[in-house]
Amino acid sequence: MKTVVISGGTSGIGKRLVKLFLNEKMKVLTFSSKKKNIISFNKEFKEFKDNLFCYQCNISDPKDVKKISAIISRKFKKIDFLINNSGTNVLGPIGKINVKDWKKIIDVNLTGPFLLTQNLLKLFKKNSVILNMGSIASRQGFPNWSSYCASKFGLKGFTESLREELRPKGIRVVHAEVGATDTGLWDNLEGDWNKESMMKDLDVAKFILKNIIDSNSVNVDEIFLMPPGGIL
Ligand SMILES: NC(=O)c1ccc[n+]([C@@H]2O[C@H](COP(=O)([O-])OP(=O)(O)OC[C@H]3O[C@@H](n4cnc5c(N)ncnc54)[C@H](OP(=O)(O)O)[C@@H]3O)[C@@H](O)[C@H]2O)c1
Repeated sequence: MKTVVISGGTSGIGKRLVKLFLNEKMKVLTFSSKKKNIISFNKEFKEFKDNLFCYQCNISDPKDVKKISAIISRKFKKIDFLINNSGTNVLGPIGKINVKDWKKIIDVNLTGPFLLTQNLLKLFKKNSVILNMGSIASRQGFPNWSSYCASKFGLKGFTESLREELRPKGIRVVHAEVGATDTGLWDNLEGDWNKESMMKDLDVAKFILKNIIDSNSVNVDEIFLMPPGGIL
């Protein structure tokens, strides 16, 4: 049975991916940082309990990542798909953003994927796929989005280096750049966001899955998905 690790699978795009991978009859392990999210996720997915594992782990905490990686190593001999999906955001003009928020965003969105990938390195084999979840904010700046853009531009640089480093081993590294998608990520962001014009999380997850599954002779280095109406 193929194995999948998804960070931040308790909501949004990650949760949709969890379900799609389960539908493909794969074993899925996911985690997120808030206990209440894990409890409600486990309730919702209880029929899949033989093939689905969900734990609490703060991806920005090296000790937590070490612990979850030890659990993953005990459960899985090999990882077929790692989706570095956990993400967070706080908006603010450059003069007002505080260093605590700045560090949190960099730690979750950039250092987290580095820590998880590094800790799991020995479990990737030929044709394993590592997908890092970037954004339109990986290629373009937006006013008040400086910390998020910095984290996602950084993640893109990390992804491109990782791809070259792991290429000789036949490990495939994919960067997904995703435009505005209707998820909970927007709920705490100041502003008037038109969720109607955003992509649906299920559609985004389906396109991502389609590009990484069953294609050992092709690596889609970059996936770029945008709402038909363009940038919000
Ligand atoms: N929605 C968009 O428009 C959009 C566009 C481009 C890219 N993206 C990216 O897509 C990814 C998924 O976002 P989403 O839109 O689906 O948002 P979401 O619904 O808010 O999901 C984010 C997930 O990350 C988890 N998470 C947050 N902080 C974490 C931490 N410290 N440790 C572990 N897990 C953590 C959350 O769970 P807990 O809160 O329980 O930790 C949740 O499961 C993110 O990387 C985001 O940047 C989103």
